[in-house]
Amino acid sequence: MMLNGHTALVTGSTQGIGLAIAQALARAGADVILHGIEDDTEGRAAADRVAALGGVRCAYVRADLAQVDEAVGLLAAASEELRAPDILINNAGIQHTCPIESFPLERWDAILAVNLSAAFLAMQAALPAMRARGWGRIVNIASVHGLVASVNKAAYLAAKHGLVGLSKGVALETATQGITVNCICPGWTDTAIIQPQIEARARQFGGDRQAGIRDLLQEKQPNLSLLPPERIGDVAVFLCSDAAAGITGVALPVDGGWTAQ
Ligand SMILES: NC(=O)c1ccc[n+]([C@@H]2O[C@H](COP(=O)([O-])OP(=O)(O)OC[C@H]3O[C@@H](n4cnc5c(N)ncnc54)[C@H](O)[C@@H]3O)[C@@H](O)[C@H]2O)c1
Repeated sequence: MMLNGHTALVTGSTQGIGLAIAQALARAGADVILHGIEDDTEGRAAADRVAALGGVRCAYVRADLAQVDEAVGLLAAASEELRAPDILINNAGIQHTCPIESFPLERWDAILAVNLSAAFLAMQAALPAMRARGWGRIVNIASVHGLVASVNKAAYLAAKHGLVGLSKGVALETATQGITVNCICPGWTDTAIIQPQIEARARQFGGDRQAGIRDLLQEKQPNLSLLPPERIGDVAVFLCSDAAAGITGVALPVDGGWTAQ
């Protein structure tokens, strides 16, 4: 299989896009360290289910990435569980929507910590082993909101635009060393993070959830359907493959046409 012999760490991978990426990497033959905020029993059960998909080894590390000491320690903890990853997927992320004047500082700090600073810290810690090996793949899950804006997303926009810029810089710093650093920029994808926005939109249609989803899609996403998380998993595997060895510093929209408008 195409990623045999490689070890991936995927942050925020017990559900949603992160889980789909972990599953796709395991199916491609990589050993996978899952990460989350669930306790060890729950996390290891998730890792066992992913391992069964690819006949690969999987482990689990718990770390609250809003806590800087836990974010700093993530790579060491993951390496101890299995081995130093040569594939790093920074996927964990949170969202809060609110007009700028009332945006709570505590939410701003948490979003910057989880969506941006944790990726910086994980890359910093992962790169020495990748450089030593002369091979590495970093895929950062940004968003269409790393490329374009929408209202009421101040912290998320700052974090995701920051992640795109950070990734380009690290791509340049590692370009001669067999390491690629890219972002995937998903549009509306069917996971937990967008449920509050769907519910808010549904309230405008008397609580009709499907009408809320349709309205959100019509506003921004030309393919008019929520992306299954598996679409992002497949693209992440591609960016980790030899076929993508020449692609670095790219922010790749997987967005049903959102950013083509
Ligand atoms: N779903 C979408 O429409 C969409 C669109 C663009 C980008 N994204 C991005 O995709 C990534 C994955 O999100 P998702 O859609 O799967 O949503 P999700 O809510 O299902 O997953 C978020 C993940 O982040 C983890 N996480 C949250 N807070 C954490 C913390 N303090 N410490 C450690 N981990 C934490 C969660 O455990 C979870 O696994 C995020 O970075 C998100 O911004 C999602």
